[in-house]
Formats: sequence, structure tokens, C-alpha cells
Amino acid sequence: MKNTLGIFFCLSSLILTSALAFSQGSIPRLAFQGTAKQLIVGGNAFLIRGGELGNSTATTVENMEPVWPKLKAMHLNTVLIPVFWELVEAEEGVFDFSLYEALIREARQWDLRIVFLWFGSWKNSMSSHAPAWVKTDQQKYPRVKDDAGKSQEILSAFSEQVLAADKRAFEQLMRFIREVDSREHTVIMVQVENEIGMLPSARDYQELAERAFRSPVPSQLIAYMQENKNLLVPEFLQAWKSTGYQTAGRWEEIFGKGVHADEIFMAWHYSKFANAIAEAGKRIYPLPMFVNAALNREGREPGDYPSAGPLPHLMDIWKAAGDAIDFLAPDFYNPDFKHWCDLYTQQGDVLFVPEHRFDNTVAAKALYTIAHYEGLGFAPFSIESTPQPEEEPLGKMYALIRDLTPLITAHQGQGRVEGVLLSKSIPQTIVRMGKYELTCKNDYSLSWTPGATTEHWPLGSVVIIQTGEDEFYIGGTGVVITFKHREHKNLNVGLLKVDEGSFEGGEWKIIRHLNGDQTHQGRHVSIPTNQFKIQRVELYLYE
Ligand code: DGJ
Repeated sequence: MKNTLGIFFCLSSLILTSALAFSQGSIPRLAFQGTAKQLIVGGNAFLIRGGELGNSTATTVENMEPVWPKLKAMHLNTVLIPVFWELVEAEEGVFDFSLYEALIREARQWDLRIVFLWFGSWKNSMSSHAPAWVKTDQQKYPRVKDDAGKSQEILSAFSEQVLAADKRAFEQLMRFIREVDSREHTVIMVQVENEIGMLPSARDYQELAERAFRSPVPSQLIAYMQENKNLLVPEFLQAWKSTGYQTAGRWEEIFGKGVHADEIFMAWHYSKFANAIAEAGKRIYPLPMFVNAALNREGREPGDYPSAGPLPHLMDIWKAAGDAIDFLAPDFYNPDFKHWCDLYTQQGDVLFVPEHRFDNTVAAKALYTIAHYEGLGFAPFSIESTPQPEEEPLGKMYALIRDLTPLITAHQGQGRVEGVLLSKSIPQTIVRMGKYELTCKNDYSLSWTPGATTEHWPLGSVVIIQTGEDEFYIGGTGVVITFKHREHKNLNVGLLKVDEGSFEGGEWKIIRHLNGDQTHQGRHVSIPTNQFKIQRVELYLYE
């Protein structure tokens, strides 16, 4: 009997250990393939076809009822949902995640994944989502003061009590996710806080903050700056240079006096705070975690815009403070998409766009994020606001991305995936892949297209995947492509075969054999504006 039991315990603990190993092994994670960082979900690289809900939409299960079918109609695979601190810990130390458990179960019914957004101490700079017991105890949970000494409804990042309370709630959130989701992995990432940033002055002037401002710059930051001196972003390097690259002293001694030093100081403390939250959460359940930023605008000073958030000019500081935050992400309510994406990826970091105004550019930009930046994915904000989800170009683009995902992810990180974004002001981009040079133009560049003379050109965007020396799959909308050979400049490149098709169960299925007008009698490859198509293209050389 003793022996049998012993064997039973041995076996069951083995089963338990391997079940644990399995569930831990398949927890969503970030991993490199070549130069690309991919999000691995259930063992496969996952591209987020996302949408973020309006802030208050997912605060009851009932209110979500009409939303789920809209998300499906637009072929989303992921929904970004805020978790309100005030709702999960209305009473200090008493946690209730039943709403979020119900949302996870609903999401599974609709075959959707979730990225939770932790609206904890800060949401758009403010502390609107802190529970009442935090808001009403200013003694214990101090607020920031602006440069005029006026207190704001913003919790101070310098308070140990604020950090401890936020951390405890976040740990509970991660514990809850682990309990309900460590097998199914419906929740794939977590955003820590929302658009952290100081307003209306560049830094906090509350007593604890003042004390920190008079203290020496931490050696951890100095060491990072010294080790990465050649890689620092120009704005940060300039601030350091302005004092002759000092390596010891207070904030103003190392970065000069004024709002820019104030912002650097504040960024360090925000990042320390966010990293402490993420680190504590990851100790319980290590999902990928990120922070998002409200982008600054040219000509505005820190404090006019939310100072010290995870912005490109502060990215070194945000990184130096810890590595529990996996990446920094931009929110787009600002049109210069490429400019900001280039800044966020300037040090080789992965790109994810958790928010973009839900306008008529999102379909093209979603593809561009995935194709050109080999990003994790894209999510328009207030995704449920469309009255006609079936008509949304975004949905058509998401269906196309869904079909191409295995091909894209298999070829990422090896110089075999590219993307273009073509507008009226930038109507052409040249892409070099393998032996070929591809000249990509907005479809309306062709003088005979109906839209050529119109004032407004829709964005054109395609992903190009090189699957063989002379073989490409091209998917997207509103682009015309011609080809040259990079070595044999005296030879011509011809279209040997062009087919339009789709992937069914991973198999390429031809829908139309394209030639004649559809390839301009063999001169170019074209996907007209407002069509969302995939083509397989085979090239050859002739004299
Ligand atoms: C950015 C924030 O992150 C969102 O939560 C939302 O407030 C939008 N701005 C604007 O509606």
C-alpha cells in the first residue's frame, strides 16, 4: 500500500510538474527570430490585429454585448481592455475581478485575445482611476504639486505608499490572470498604467520630489549613460553634453537647469515606478509588459505636453531604470506616423501601436506597422465606435493580415519582409530585396486612374514577402510596383506569372490568373485603391 501510494504521488507530482512546465512554457512571451522580436502565443508567432475599447465601454458585461460582434466583423484577434483600479479594489485590500473574469470568458467565446491596460495610479497623467480610499487620503497618498505649489489630482511617483498600494493591486491582477488564464492564454500582454506624464509643469514640486531633486543622480543612470554613450538619443546626449559630460552631481549639475533637466529627473522616477510595478507583477505571472505615451508636439515644452512619459527623446532614461518594461509604445493622435515610428525603433526596439485615432488611415498603417517595422501589431482607439463594422477598410485589411500571418511571421527578421506606406505627399518608395529593386507607387500616381486628379488620395500600403529568389507575395491596397535587377542593370525584369489568390489552410489557392490590363500587359504589378488583395509574383530576366 505504502509503495503504491508512493508511486501514485510520484506519478501525480510528475504530471503536475510537466503540466506546470507546459503551462509556463506556453505563456505568451517575446522572442527574437533573426532581427525581429515576435510575440509568441501558444507556440506560434502572433500578429496583433487589435482594437482598443473606449475607456468606459468594458465596465459592465451588458455594455459589451453589442461590441463583441463588431470586433469579430472587423476580423480582430485581440481587444485592448482597461482594468480600472477603482473597480477591482473599491475597498482597501478587498479585490473583485469578477467583471474581468467574465470579459475573459466572453473573449474566448468570440475567439479573441486580450491585452489588459492597467489604469492604476495614472491614466492620461491624471489619477482618476485610483480608488476613493486613495483619493480621499491625501496625507497617506500625496498628490503632485506644480511649480506654483498647487496640488493636482495626480498621485506622486515619489511616494512609497502610492507605489506599495498600486503594486499590491497590480500583483492581485496578475495573480487573478494566472489563476483563470494560465492554460488558455487569452490574456497576451499587459500595459502598465496609461500615458504616464506630468502636468501642468515639467516636474513634481511636492516635498518628496523636492528632496529627490536635490539628491545626486543615481549611479545606475550614470553607469547606463557611460556604457551606452555612443547609442544615446541625440536630445539626451545633448543635455548631458551641455554640462561637459559630468558623471557625478545633482540633476541640474549633470543635465543643466530648466524644464529639460526637470523632465529627465521626472522620467527617471516614473520609469522606476513603472518598472517596480511590472517587476512585481512578472514575479507572479510574467506576461510581456509595456508602457504607452501621449506624443509631444513640436514647439511645446514639457509640462505643456505630459512631461517625462515614455517618449523617444527620453527612451534611454526609461530603459536605464529597469528591464521589467519590455517596450515603450506610441499613441497616435498626431498625423506624422512614420516620423514617430522611426523614433520608437531608432535603437532597434520592437514596435506596437496600442492606440491610433480610428480614422480612414488605420487600415494602411496597421499593415505598415507589421510589414515595414516588423511590429507586433496595431490597435485603433474606440474600435467599437464604428456603426458599420462590415464596411470598415480596417476589417478588410485585418482579414488580409490574418491570411498572410503564417507567411509574414515565417520570414520576419531575415530581410525578407518589407512594407510601404504611400500618400499624395510621399507617392513613391524604393525597396530592395534580394537581387531586386522594387519601385512602389501609390495607385493614384497612374494618370489614368479615376482618383489621379482628386485632391485626396487614400493611403496605399502593401507588405512584400520574398519567398524565393524570384518569388514574392504582395498583399495590401492601392499600390503599383515595377521591378529592376540590382546586379544585371542591362537586363530587364519581366513578370513570368502573376496570380491573385488566398491562403486556405496554409495552401495557396489561385482566384484569378492576372495579365492583360491587370498587369498593364506585363509591365507592373498592381493592387487598386479600395481593393485588399494578395498576389503571388514570379519574375524573370530578359535582354
Ligand atoms: C489617449 C488615452 O490613452 C485614451 O485612454 C483616451 O483617453 C484617448 N487618448 C482619447 O480619447
